[in-house]
Amino acid sequence: MDRRIVAGNWKMNTTLREGVVLAEQLSQLVNRIPAGVEVIVAPPFTHLTEVRRALNPRIMLGAQDCSSRAQGAFTGDVSAEMLKDCGVEWVILGHSERRQYHGDDTPTLREKLGRVASVGLKPIFCVGEPENIRAQGQQNAWDWVAGQLKLLRGLGDSVLRELIVAYEPIWAIGTGKTATPEDAGWMCLRITRWLTSEIGEIGGMVPVLYGGSCNAANAKEIFSQPGVSGGLIGGASLKPEEFVSIACSF
Ligand code: 13P
Repeated sequence: MDRRIVAGNWKMNTTLREGVVLAEQLSQLVNRIPAGVEVIVAPPFTHLTEVRRALNPRIMLGAQDCSSRAQGAFTGDVSAEMLKDCGVEWVILGHSERRQYHGDDTPTLREKLGRVASVGLKPIFCVGEPENIRAQGQQNAWDWVAGQLKLLRGLGDSVLRELIVAYEPIWAIGTGKTATPEDAGWMCLRITRWLTSEIGEIGGMVPVLYGGSCNAANAKEIFSQPGVSGGLIGGASLKPEEFVSIACSF
């Protein structure tokens, strides 16, 4: 059966207290979400332990990034092992904001994927084209995304089995400009096709999420597209009623 997944990326939002309250509110509403829908939230690093405590166990914990190194003199970094220790199961990697503001390039992301896999965490790997590339047409957007997917080629089966890919066109993130459901579906299907042909059958099983101004009003139409397994939600994941409503949109 196809997987249905909704992940909330809180980004650099909420104080610790606000984050715990948000986790408590989500936990109170979680029973509304149909069985079988996988729900993940990724709060800031500083909130992980407290949010884990406040969350209903039905909701899985994610982190927004991790270090490319295992441990040592890397001031400010947080390792995959530390995340695992906090109860994290999922790690978002390659988010466009990390690529843009923190120089997460292909070699760095390859190392991060390796770190995540080495401690048994599961990656949510983000891809997506910038606005100027999209303006040159869908095919150009696809070529860009295919270029980003290439680094998944070397991954072992155990990582691929636990991988999620999120298609997040950069121009749609936090802008209120959503991809049309058809375009989102087309890209997600292309990603699945690419994963099948380049990686094999196991690649074809990887769920592909859409992200970028996804909200309670547009989620149903986007999630109904063949190839879309759910959403990676930014702004709307900070509103418990709305996030739960998105998770009920399959
Ligand atoms: P928005 O839903 O706020 O556009 O953010 C999407 C995103 O970047 C999730 O990772």
